[in-house]
Amino acid sequence: MRASPEDQLTIGEVTRRTGVPASALHFYERKGLIFSERAGRNQRIFSRHMLRRISLIMVAKRLHIPLSDVAEVFAGLPVDRAPTHRDWQRVSRRWKKQLEERRRVLERLENELTGCIGCGCLSMKACLLLNPDDTLQGRGPGPVRLQQSSVALE
Ligand code: FES
Repeated sequence: MRASPEDQLTIGEVTRRTGVPASALHFYERKGLIFSERAGRNQRIFSRHMLRRISLIMVAKRLHIPLSDVAEVFAGLPVDRAPTHRDWQRVSRRWKKQLEERRRVLERLENELTGCIGCGCLSMKACLLLNPDDTLQGRGPGPVRLQQSSVALE
């Protein structure tokens, strides 16, 4: 018999198919990422198309995409059918951009850390890792604003 997206799966079947433990499925359900219905004896029943959502969650976990972002993405997807090829392309483009941004941040942090190697000052004023918001540091050392205001007073 051919599987239909409308097929219903027990939580045990979903766990076997995805490798995701039941406790994690309960958690994703509480977060509103997946949905189930109740059958006899209050048993959770999942539509087969929820497997696709669970696959997306697994991919997101692998990419270290936070569940809050997965929730944002899922908010734009219909709950009554599996994400389509086009849906997945849109989501993967979004997550690729996030990975690129994360890579840029990591490269910047790596460069800043390289500057610390052999330094060891741990200065709250000079160290970019300790004082990342020092937007004036590119305009020279020391109290830039004070120096500028004293120039203006001269
Ligand atoms: S420890 Fe000196 S610049 Fe970071």
